[in-house]
Amino acid sequence: MKKTNQDYSAFVALSRDELLARLEAQLSAGRFAHVQRVEQTAIRLAQQYGADVQRAGLAGLVHDYAKQRSDAEFKQIIRQQQFDPELLTANNGIWHGVVGAYLIEHELGIHDQQVLNAVRRHTIGAVEMTALDKIIFVADFIEPGRDFPNVEQARAAANESLDAGVRFEIINTLKFLIAKQVNIYPKTIDTYNAWVAGRA
Ligand SMILES: [Fe+2]
Ligand SMILES: [Fe+2]
Repeated sequence: MKKTNQDYSAFVALSRDELLARLEAQLSAGRFAHVQRVEQTAIRLAQQYGADVQRAGLAGLVHDYAKQRSDAEFKQIIRQQQFDPELLTANNGIWHGVVGAYLIEHELGIHDQQVLNAVRRHTIGAVEMTALDKIIFVADFIEPGRDFPNVEQARAAANESLDAGVRFEIINTLKFLIAKQVNIYPKTIDTYNAWVAGRA
């Protein structure tokens, strides 16, 4: 894939090389490659839909920064920071969004609320989502390394509109969670209702 050398100096004091090194230290090789593909996909979507390319690239790059923390650390931060306690009984796959935004701000020094919100919302979506939120939510799902059965449909939906991409993804996410019979965080269901049941 074509590499871009995005300059994120407006949002983070670390150089790109330093930022990549910090991510690489936190992530498996496979996930480090994933976040770089999400960065490139987010940039492409931002260009396609006229959104903020720098914020999209940065949010894509850091979105899974916290993904490999232990459940114990996630739980400790959720309690200590008084995040929604309902997170604790929901499936652990969503924790790295809200906790990730916190860690990205405190460990990487990224304070831009638009970038942090896009990271925060990438696991759950939201009833109201900005273009940047939608781009990160969708880019994570359709980046070129993804190969789940209906990924081409997901890519086609994202190419139709960001809203169609979000809608396709939240339906699939709910199906996946139900198939796994895990506890679904109520806000994930709110996202589903807003994007699928509540909209044409
Ligand atoms: Fe993630
Ligand atoms: Fe991801």
